[in-house]
Amino acid sequence: MFGTVTAVNDLSFEAKAGEFLTLLGPSGCGKTTTLRLVAGLERPDRGEIQVGGRLLSSATSGLFVPPERRGMGMVFQSYAIWPHMTVFENVAFPLQELRVPRAEIRERVMTILGTVGLGELHARPAPMLSGGQQQRVALARALVSNPEVLLLDEPLSNLDARLREEMRFELREMQAKLGITSVFVTHDQAEAMTLSDRIVVMNAGRIEQEGSPQEVYQRPSTRFVMDFLGRANHLPARIRKGDDGSLVAEVEESGFCMPVGGLESWQHGQEVLLAFRPEAVEAQAADRDGAWVGVVRSSVYVSGHVEYVVELGKFTVRATGPEDARLPHDARAKLCVSPRAVRVWPRAAGANGGNAR
Ligand SMILES: Nc1ncnc2c1ncn2[C@@H]1O[C@H](COP(=O)(O)OP(=O)(O)OP(=O)(O)O)[C@@H](O)[C@H]1O
Ligand SMILES: [Mg+2]
Repeated sequence: MFGTVTAVNDLSFEAKAGEFLTLLGPSGCGKTTTLRLVAGLERPDRGEIQVGGRLLSSATSGLFVPPERRGMGMVFQSYAIWPHMTVFENVAFPLQELRVPRAEIRERVMTILGTVGLGELHARPAPMLSGGQQQRVALARALVSNPEVLLLDEPLSNLDARLREEMRFELREMQAKLGITSVFVTHDQAEAMTLSDRIVVMNAGRIEQEGSPQEVYQRPSTRFVMDFLGRANHLPARIRKGDDGSLVAEVEESGFCMPVGGLESWQHGQEVLLAFRPEAVEAQAADRDGAWVGVVRSSVYVSGHVEYVVELGKFTVRATGPEDARLPHDARAKLCVSPRAVRVWPRAAGANGGNAR
């Protein structure tokens, strides 16, 4: 709590040894606060923090291990490297604080500078470094004391797009080589997807879902997760008992049914939202009107396939198709949805939430 602001609430996650775990969420959702709690830079009002079975903080017993004794290295959103020092001095600083002998400091600093690719630049004053190089200094400084856990708060967000992508791979390689348990914070879903073993998706101080990149992308458990991780179609529907007694989802005001799996837990008449990603819908040429046949309103070519916006009665649906059979504007298109890719969620009373035009 910051005064009356509850920055994070009922949050519980676990990073496994050697794992690259990412906290992903929009600005202000509590990512930095969570990382600062783990680092010991904030005191939690409730709950516990443990590393490798060692209790670091417990609100009930009042135990609180200070940051410098937590065995964690942290890279901040702003790199916070010291401008009046050289590269070497910046990285040596934590070891000097720990009163490590000079010769050992020299050896350890040069080793870690080598690891982050800065060996040649050890004597350079910090202000004479590029953004990417400053980033590496911050990383080397976080790693030089051999922490058990590495905490990274949006370390790539100040770099330009090309360098950011390059650093993603470097960071991941280095983390794997060192085998260091890492908790990484970002609001960038592509970054989270490429870097992480596991992603914890946060929203408004709470966890929405946690899982592998593939799990949270393909099987999002809430609409928030689905929309935050990529594009999605949402169609309001109603559960109906089919002629053979099985349950189907019927899209509102269209009469189109969707053969979705896992409907057993629903009841006849329930209002739901059907959610699916554009890549789960293929637009095919159709020569007459019918169920799931709409009209192509726009299309764009995107690396190897075509993305469509198709008008389907009252709704618009984003779909994809092969590049060698591009459908023209105003053409009829049949939408083939792969049933296994459809998520079904309850619809809040009054909210229609669909892709209404
Ligand atoms: N020192 C503070 N005093 C009061 N409120 C704070 C303080 N620090 C953070 N907050 C509030 O706590 C909430 C979470 O902030 P936090 O910095 O953890 O978000 P974040 O997810 O890191 O966002 P961003 O992506 O913008 O860095 C926000 O509502 C923020 O305004
Ligand atoms: Mg932050």
